[in-house]
Amino acid sequence: MAILLPLLLFSVTISTVSPAPTKPDTFKPPDNYLIDCGSSSQTTLPDRRTFSSDSSSSQYLKYDGREINVHDQSAKVPLPIYKSAKVFNAKATYSFHVTKPGWHWVRLHFNPVKNNEFKLDETKFSVVACNTLVLLHEYTPKAIEMQEYLMNVTTPNVNIVFSGEKDSPAFVNAIEVVSAPDMLIPEHADALFPVGKKVDGMTRFSFQKMYRLNVGGGEIGPGNDTLGRHWDTDRKYQKVQSGAKSVSIAPNVVTYLEGGSPLIAPPTVYASAVQMGNSETSSPNFNVTWQFDLDHSYPYLVRLHFCDIVSKSLNELYFNVYVGGKIAVSALDLSTVTGGLSVAYYKDLFVEASLVSNPFLVQIGPLNEPIGTKNAILNGVEILRINNSVNSLDGVFGADGRSVTGPSRGTVAAVGFAMMFGAFAGLGAMAVKWQKRPQDWQKKNSFSSWLLPLHAGDSSFMASSKTSLGSKKSAFYSSTMGMGRYLSFAELQEATKNWDSNSIIGVGGFGNVYLGVLDDGTKVAVKRGNSQSEQGIHEFQTELQMLSKLRHRHLVSLIGYCDENAEMILVYEYMKHGSMRDHLYGKNLPAISWKQRLEMCIGAVRGLHYLHTGAASAIIHRDVKSTNILLDENFIAKMSDFGLSKDVGMGEAHVSTAVKGSFGYLDPEYFRKQQLTDKSDVYSFGVVLLEVLCARPAIDPALPREQVNLAEWAMQWKRKGLLEKIIDPHLVGHINPESMNKCAEAAEQCLSEYGVDRPTMGDVLWSLEYALQLQDQGNTEEGSNGPGSCLANGAPLAPAVDNRPVTTPAQASENPAEVQVIEEHSGTAMFAHHANLNSR
Ligand SMILES: *[C@@H]1O[C@H](CO)[C@@H](O)[C@H](O)[C@H]1NC(C)=O
Ligand SMILES: *[C@@H]1O[C@H](CO)[C@@H](O)[C@H](O)[C@H]1NC(C)=O
Ligand SMILES: *[C@@H]1O[C@H](CO)[C@@H](O)[C@H](O)[C@H]1NC(C)=O
Ligand SMILES: *[C@@H]1O[C@H](CO)[C@@H](O)[C@H](O)[C@H]1NC(C)=O
Repeated sequence: MAILLPLLLFSVTISTVSPAPTKPDTFKPPDNYLIDCGSSSQTTLPDRRTFSSDSSSSQYLKYDGREINVHDQSAKVPLPIYKSAKVFNAKATYSFHVTKPGWHWVRLHFNPVKNNEFKLDETKFSVVACNTLVLLHEYTPKAIEMQEYLMNVTTPNVNIVFSGEKDSPAFVNAIEVVSAPDMLIPEHADALFPVGKKVDGMTRFSFQKMYRLNVGGGEIGPGNDTLGRHWDTDRKYQKVQSGAKSVSIAPNVVTYLEGGSPLIAPPTVYASAVQMGNSETSSPNFNVTWQFDLDHSYPYLVRLHFCDIVSKSLNELYFNVYVGGKIAVSALDLSTVTGGLSVAYYKDLFVEASLVSNPFLVQIGPLNEPIGTKNAILNGVEILRINNSVNSLDGVFGADGRSVTGPSRGTVAAVGFAMMFGAFAGLGAMAVKWQKRPQDWQKKNSFSSWLLPLHAGDSSFMASSKTSLGSKKSAFYSSTMGMGRYLSFAELQEATKNWDSNSIIGVGGFGNVYLGVLDDGTKVAVKRGNSQSEQGIHEFQTELQMLSKLRHRHLVSLIGYCDENAEMILVYEYMKHGSMRDHLYGKNLPAISWKQRLEMCIGAVRGLHYLHTGAASAIIHRDVKSTNILLDENFIAKMSDFGLSKDVGMGEAHVSTAVKGSFGYLDPEYFRKQQLTDKSDVYSFGVVLLEVLCARPAIDPALPREQVNLAEWAMQWKRKGLLEKIIDPHLVGHINPESMNKCAEAAEQCLSEYGVDRPTMGDVLWSLEYALQLQDQGNTEEGSNGPGSCLANGAPLAPAVDNRPVTTPAQASENPAEVQVIEEHSGTAMFAHHANLNSR
């Protein structure tokens, strides 16, 4: 059971978001045409929008037939615009001048109004917009219906042409043509079906709203949505209602990320959610499922809205999101992507519905792993149909009479091989599919071909890589990169029993970590990049760059990698005994002795000291915590999850100012000043020392308020000189008080308010070595066997820990030529930082 690597359980990185430059919360549409067709006077709706009348000689209508307006004033209708309609028995064109090209809503309202002349519920007609886009084909509205479209208008006018089929009349009750903000539709989207496709040029497409749900909340009318949208409730789409539970908060608590905006969805959408009901069981294991009926001949844009309104603190909630039965976001970690609670977040997916089974499912469910609370949430869903290849949103015929032919009636299902730059989704299926591609194709499209060369100074490589995709020049020769050996995808597939979920030993935003056995019997940890992770590919690059530079006995080593089929897989030394934290608390593993704890800490410090001083340029780990200290089969401690410069050579200066790290370990000075130094790692390590002494998490929200933050709480006791009152009960009576004091002092220094007052890692190393000596001396009668000697269960007690006395920090820097490379297990936490520490 001790095979667990540090699960993401506790190992999560937050990134606080600097105050957002104010994005417009409201949008004033340059074009705003609202027409109540057939009405003799203008109509003001309860939401205060006023629709103008067009009963006679409308300036917008070009129509050669007889003018026919029908009314049913006694009709019981939700809105007065449904009382009247304009009926055409010849082709009719509404034409609206466009003051600003770009996105426009077109909303068409229909109600087959009862009248003496026409049976409107038996009509059949077509509607074409801008001469090219088919909105409706052979359409017969049987009841009140509103069709909403979103189109990027590039023509000077929006023309909407109604034409009846054969002798049938056409009609319409109301028309809206209203400008919409650009941000609604992204330029690119990641596809889940077909998996891995990157869809470019989304702005060429036109959209029709199929579903727009305020999940867990009430209906939102156009008057309460800045863009006049209507949000339906989700109940009727839920499959098993008993499993789900609604939850809501006050909408004014919801905040938006930098670059986000309530125009995407109003706060009321994010303020309610459906979560897993757990009244029956404390550990629910099911999905909450919504099902939708979709015409499978179109592609769709599926937009999922999330906002963590259920957690009490950060890093409690991780869950899976499935779309069309396939994993869409694995281990979604809202704390990390948003840096806070109640922060709005959304995810777009392109779905070619011909590749999805019916009904179309959106599901959320808990992780298989015992991580965080067993819960999952969803706040909103939008499903927008995308026009097909003949530019129609209804039927197989284009406005020019062309028809969709061929086996796939939607967009070309063939993968547009532009799937670089992190456009990964549902890797499993992709692997199977792409396995069959010819070798040459794989080469050209493997990520390494654009990822490399790894020269950090080459600031242009992100930009240039795109164009050099197919170029042979960028071929990847691992042997020169010091990255371990190349492993084929097939080999890794076998090693992990075809990515068996039982082999998963770690889960992170970046992807899963599997336990694998290579054919020579070597156990390895296989980290498979999850392209759904926003952090994904960029960090993968960074990690690879670091990998080639760092080698140390106390850094977890890389064995190999695989980049076949655009996979991002790194294979590491398997750290049999998991994280140090697991041996301290939470896992019911046998307690470890003080001496062993010190030895582990010393190993970690050596690794960190090497990072700070040993490599060519200084590296700041940025996420020092007990889950990132891993133990091999001999209980030798090694740092993992580090070394990841995000900015050097990549021209992303902002990264250096965004505060990243883990809650409870974060250097307050770094937080204030947004300047990262190696002393931030020192601070975090101070927290680790307290964890080691007290055997409890850095943050434990379950405790009384004053105890929640370990650093604050323990330092209070330390100042009172009563630290022994709160240390791990397993240590009481087995810890040499002087040794404990030495360690506690070191922790206190590490936690100094100002970085300049904190020791270097070299100093910490010295203190811990000294504490170890004190413990050894104090324990000579007893031997060094504390209560933790049972830990081993026969395993050797860290005989190989390198505890040569170290007199100066310089000496402590171990031989960099020892071939050991960096490792990262938890995936979300790759935030080490590269910096020039000369100023230190
Ligand atoms: C609309 O489409 C045109 C042509 O494809 C494109 O140049 C323009 O950027 C699009 N507009 C918006 C707002 O995306
Ligand atoms: C907007 O929301 C308020 C409060 O929830 C509600 O009373 C009102 O009817 C809503 N208005 C519209 C037009 O939906
Ligand atoms: C949730 O749904 C997905 C996809 O349909 C499925 O693979 C998974 O097994 C389901 N999980 C549970 C707990 O039912
Ligand atoms: C939608 O129509 C546009 C314009 O004709 C076209 O470029 C695009 O490919 C169509 N969309 C799809 C998914 O085929």
